[in-house]
Parts: sequence; structure tokens; C-alpha cells
Amino acid sequence: MKRAKVTAKDLINESILILKKHKIKEAKLNAELIMSHCMNGDRIDLYENYNKYLTKIEQNLFRSLIRRRIKKEPVQYIIGKTEFMGLKFKVNKNVLIPRPDTETLVEFAIKYSLENKINSKYRILDYGTGSGNIIISIAKYSPNLQYYAIDLSREALILAKENAKSNRVDKDIFFVQSNGFSSFNSRFKFDMIVSNPPYIPTSVIRKLPEEIKSFEPLISLDGGEDGLKVIKDIVSNAYRHLKKNGVCLIEIGYEQSESVEKMIKEVAKYKDIKFLKDLAGIKRVVFFKKK
Ligand SMILES: C[S@@+](CC[C@H](N)C(=O)[O-])C[C@H]1O[C@@H](n2cnc3c(N)ncnc32)[C@H](O)[C@@H]1O
Repeated sequence: MKRAKVTAKDLINESILILKKHKIKEAKLNAELIMSHCMNGDRIDLYENYNKYLTKIEQNLFRSLIRRRIKKEPVQYIIGKTEFMGLKFKVNKNVLIPRPDTETLVEFAIKYSLENKINSKYRILDYGTGSGNIIISIAKYSPNLQYYAIDLSREALILAKENAKSNRVDKDIFFVQSNGFSSFNSRFKFDMIVSNPPYIPTSVIRKLPEEIKSFEPLISLDGGEDGLKVIKDIVSNAYRHLKKNGVCLIEIGYEQSESVEKMIKEVAKYKDIKFLKDLAGIKRVVFFKKK
């Protein structure tokens, strides 16, 4: 007996029911992203291919990827890509999936550098670059400056370099494997230091959704006992690596603003401390200047 032909639409509809049964949020979006990936296209192309018959290989691939999503693997890791600041980024299990919240820091950094650069010697450092989303976006939208990015993870840097290449800014960004500022001589000063460091207290990680705690790299999440370990490293050392009036922008966690403000004041090397709020009105980024 000949088996009925299966279209993309048939499989998407079938999987929406399965994903919903397993309490996966945004089931339609997930199914469509996975289908577009199986058909080697973007979601926008899918609408033209909705009624296309799938090969057996495409059907099997789609079903196996849906099974991974049911096991709570984030869809971005399954399809190996995401978007940030309107740009495309590859992601894998070695890097945090860029979050829309981080666009608050990036938008401010772009605006500030465009308004304050004096010449092309304006230097920006991204501490903990991960997929490279922050420094690549800044290099794209505030071009012709000097960009540096560090990460402790060699695997993350490999991916960040790939992303810089696909976004055509690889010649502009200098990537360095470094534990904090250890690879930089303090005579080499920056105009701006940006960071989205790991800031989740160790004890909170096990309470996070399965998607995060079982799939995203611990090194990207774990901020030590109080969540402030890496933030403390940045605050207590940034002044050595900043020019006079150089600025620092750090993304912080929910309810960390008071401790972070206290920490910055205690170092006694900074001025003009302020917080930027995200779309939900939460203090998401701290800004301060070197005296
Ligand atoms: C929260 S992730 C941020 C990734 C990316 N910048 C983003 O916004 O999605 C933090 C990054 O900091 C890196 N990291 C953690 N500790 C570090 C250290 N001591 N020195 C340099 N990088 C570090 C991690 O490997 C990870 O890539």
C-alpha cells in the first residue's frame, strides 16, 4: 500500500499538539523554526513551502529535532542560531543564548560611543563575550572604532570569531582568551568596558527552568555564592584599564542594584553611577565613569 504524502503543514500541525502536550511554550513558533531549519531556510521562507511534500529524510530529521525540544533543549541550540539586535548569530552549547534584555546595554553603548568618540582610537572592551553578540553589534552599529573581546572559554571564542566573520566585522575585533583582565597591561587603556557577566547565585541555578540549567553552560551563569563574583572582579579592576572619564556598563541581575552600587562606591575610583532599566522597568544595567 502506498503511504500518504506528508506536507510541511501536516507535520507542523502534528508537532504543535505534541509540543503543547509536553507543556512547551510557543509551540507553533518552535515547530516553524525547526521546520524552516530542516528545509534549509528561514521562517520567512516557510510560508511559501507550507504545502510542499517532505522527503523521508526531512520528515525523520524534523521528528528527531522535535524530540530534542520535548526534552527541553532550547530551540536556538537545536537549530544552531538566533537573532540579536537584528543580526544573525550562530549558537551552540558552549555559549549563552543571547537575551533580548541585553539589548538595553548594547543600545546604550552604541549611542554613547557614537556621541562621545573623539576619533577612531576609541577603544571598547567586551568582558565575557560568549557568542560575541555584544561586541559584534557595537562594531556593526558604531563602526570604525577599536574593539576587543575576552572570554575564559576557548570554545566560546571560536564561535564568537565565526559570528564576527559572518557579520563582516572579523577584521575589526581583537579576540583574546583571558581570565578577566589578566591578559591586559594596565598601560593599555579603554574608553569603554562592557559586560554581561555570569551573575546568578550558585544556589539559585538548580531552581532555574530545565531549558537553562540543563543546557546553558554553567560558566555563563554561575556568579558564585552571592552572584556577584565576576561583577566584583570587573568593578575592582576596571579603573586600572579605563582612561580618565572612561565608562563601564555591566548587566546585573534582579535585585542586585543596591549591592552593586555599594561595591562601586567602596572602590572610590568612580563617579556618575546610574542604572538603566529594561522594558519591564527593572534596573538591568549599571553605568559608571572613572574619575
Ligand atoms: C552571561 S555570559 C554572556 C555572554 C554574552 N556576552 C551575552 O551577552 O550573551 C558570560 C560570559 O562570561 C565568560 N566568563 C565567565 N567568567 C569569566 C572570566 N573570569 N573571564 C573572562 N570571561 C569569563 C563566560 O565564559 C561567558 O561566555
